[in-house]
Amino acid sequence: MQTLSVELGDRRYPIYIGAGLIGRPELYRPHIGASQVMIVTNETVAPLYLAPVRKALEGFAAAEVILPDGEQYKNLATLNRIFDELLGHRFSRRCTLIALGGGVIGDTAGFAAACYQRGVPFLQVPTTLLAQVDSSVGGKTGVNHPLGKNMIGAFYQPRCVIADTASLDTLPERELSAGIAEVIKYGLIRDPEFFLWLERHMEQLRQRDRVALAFAIERSCRNKAEVVAADELEAGQRALLNLGHTFGHAIETGMGYGEWLHGEAVAAGMCMAAHLSRRLGWLDESAETRIRALVERAGLPTDPPASIPPEGFLRLMAVDKKVLEGRLRLVLLRGIGDAVVTDAFDAGALDATLQHFSAAGL
Ligand code: NAD
Ligand code: GLY
Repeated sequence: MQTLSVELGDRRYPIYIGAGLIGRPELYRPHIGASQVMIVTNETVAPLYLAPVRKALEGFAAAEVILPDGEQYKNLATLNRIFDELLGHRFSRRCTLIALGGGVIGDTAGFAAACYQRGVPFLQVPTTLLAQVDSSVGGKTGVNHPLGKNMIGAFYQPRCVIADTASLDTLPERELSAGIAEVIKYGLIRDPEFFLWLERHMEQLRQRDRVALAFAIERSCRNKAEVVAADELEAGQRALLNLGHTFGHAIETGMGYGEWLHGEAVAAGMCMAAHLSRRLGWLDESAETRIRALVERAGLPTDPPASIPPEGFLRLMAVDKKVLEGRLRLVLLRGIGDAVVTDAFDAGALDATLQHFSAAGL
């Protein structure tokens, strides 16, 4: 087992990474204050992993809420279902929530923990690659609104993250690829050596080679933990973690939540950001070619759906948390491993990029 730490002063917390962790009581117990524990999971993950988690929590007054599966359920109605269960069980403000599942469960359960009785502790037990490398770490919690992705939420850190790499054995291939999108992101924004490693090991990752997966998860979490420790509330560099996300969120919202997976939308979004960066003269053509090639080898889309026209993209991208005083800010690339968040780009180049992809789109 590897243990990393998210250094946030008296709110610092460990990330445990390794095979077979999900059933280990000693990882949960130090992070649970009192006896009431609510496991929040979904109907896909529950049959696979609820039993070992329940066993690890023997001795606690544990209950569970099993939610429907899908991005389309990451909303206020689902949040309310969690509150119904907590109140129905008379859970007090000393209870602990456990988010067992992918990023949808982690974001929703984390936000429920942030709100319930003004805040109760929660643990992240991520079971998708995307959640293990990104969403379970860093304390961004929340739900979607029909007009915008992740628009209702809070910064609220978990007490620990228990990432059982063996749980990835049951993950569908499409979901594994979606997680690799966020892994590639770390290479692109701040870790060029890791990008190189990914170019050399993409096939092993897709074949779920244990050693390669463990390395990629640990390296991704290390990158994420460093960024979060430096800028928890996204006053500055944390925004770089949103490379591809302004385009990607437009795809997810525009297509209807759940149609394109989050990681797929981010993958196409990163290719769009790379193209715009090249058009601005900030990124050379060979770097754009390498990025598109790696995304494609990960089994991910390099182009957005053709059904969102350029004006649709602009309308959807205007509902982004990085928009400040009406100005769109984007994460763009000056090289592989070198990203900037900026509003200082030529609007004509963005239009041309959207036109280019509108012609190329799927
Ligand atoms: P997800 O939670 O929908 O999980 C993907 C699918 O895999 C679901 O059908 C799920 O039931 C299933 N699943 C989960 N674990 C499984 C397992 N071990 N075996 C088999 N099936 C399993 O999607 P995701 O990709 O994990 O997360 C995407 C969400 O995360 C989006 O809502 C996105 O906005 C959010 N996100 C949040 C952050 C953050 O910082 N909070 C960062 C990135 C993404
Ligand atoms: N996934 C973006 C962030 O955590 O900041």
